[in-house]
Amino acid sequence: MSLIITGASGHLGRRTAELLLDTEGVDAADVVLVTRTPSRLDDLAARGAEVRRGDFSEPSSLPGAFAGATRVLIVSTDVVGERVPGHEAAIAAARDAGATLIAYTSIPNPVPENPAAVAADHRATEEALRASSVAWTFLRNALYAEYRIPEARAAAASGTFHHNMGAGRTAYVSREDCAAAAAAVLAGGDEHANKAYDITGPELLGGADLARLYGAQEAPVDDEAFVAGLVAAGLPEAAARLLASFGQAIREGYLDQRSGDVEALTGRAPRRVADVLAAAGVEAAA
Ligand SMILES: NC(=O)c1ccc[n+]([C@@H]2O[C@H](COP(=O)([O-])OP(=O)(O)OC[C@H]3O[C@@H](n4cnc5c(N)ncnc54)[C@H](OP(=O)(O)O)[C@@H]3O)[C@@H](O)[C@H]2O)c1
Repeated sequence: MSLIITGASGHLGRRTAELLLDTEGVDAADVVLVTRTPSRLDDLAARGAEVRRGDFSEPSSLPGAFAGATRVLIVSTDVVGERVPGHEAAIAAARDAGATLIAYTSIPNPVPENPAAVAADHRATEEALRASSVAWTFLRNALYAEYRIPEARAAAASGTFHHNMGAGRTAYVSREDCAAAAAAVLAGGDEHANKAYDITGPELLGGADLARLYGAQEAPVDDEAFVAGLVAAGLPEAAARLLASFGQAIREGYLDQRSGDVEALTGRAPRRVADVLAAAGVEAAA
C-alpha cells in the first residue's frame, strides 16, 4: 500500500506528511512524498518515508512518482489560472498507477458564479476528478487563517483595517487543521469516497470582527480602492486583484460556509483566528 502526497515540500504538503507519519497505525514505509525538490524532504526520508521527484508540468516524471499508488493527496499548485493541465496530468497518472482514492485541495463552493479568482481552476479540477473513474475526496479548504497574520500586523501598525468584504463573513481555517484533515483522509478508508468536505474554521468572521481582533479601526472600501491601497503598499497589481476577488466572494456570500468537517475528520475542534494570531505572537484584542 502507498499513501502518496504531492507538493510535499510546500507548507500544507509537508505538514500533512508529518501528521500522517505521526498517525498511529500508519507505517512510514507506506508513505510516499512527491515533490519537485526531494532534497527539501531529507528529514522525512530519515523518518522512513519514500521521497520521489514529481513535477506536474513534466508529464514524464509522473508515472514513477505515482507508481504503486493506493490513496493519493493532490495538493493544488500555486500557479493560479495555469494549473489545470498539471492537475489533470497528475489525476491521470494516479489513475493509471491504480489509485483507489484521490483527494484534492479545493475551495468551498467553486460554482461558476463564485468571483474568487481561484474558483475556476478548482471547479475544473473537481470536474476532472469526477470524470476520472477513481473515487475522489474534495478537501474544500477555506481561506487560510495564517494569511491574517501579516494583515493583522499591518492593521495594528496603521490603526486601520481596510477591506472590501462589505458585510460578508467567512470561516478562516488554519493550515494545521487543513493538514490534519488531509492526513485523516489518507489514513482512513472507503468512508471518504466521493465526499466533498468544507474544511473551515469554527467561526464566521466579518470585517468588523477582524478589525476588533487586530485592535484597529474598520475601514470598508470598494474593490478598486482596495486594489489601489495594496498596490500603493507595494503588492503587484495581479496579486492585489487576486486578494480583492476573495473580498468580493466573501461580500457576495460565496464563502460563508462553516462546517463541522474538521472536527469530524480529526476529532479535534478547529483553531480560531485568534489562536493562530496568538501563536504567531500577534496580540489579539478579543
Ligand atoms: N486556502 C487558502 O487560503 C490558500 C492560500 C494559498 C494557497 N492555497 C492553495 O493551497 C495549496 C497549498 O498551500 P500551501 O500553503 O502549502 O502553498 P505553498 O507552500 O505555496 O506550496 C505550493 C505548492 O505547490 C506545489 N507545486 C507548485 N508547482 C508544482 C508543480 N509543477 N508540480 C507539482 N507541485 C507543484 C508545491 O510542491 P513542491 O514545491 O513540493 O514541488 C507546493 O506543494 C497552494 O498550492 C494553493 O493551491 C490555498
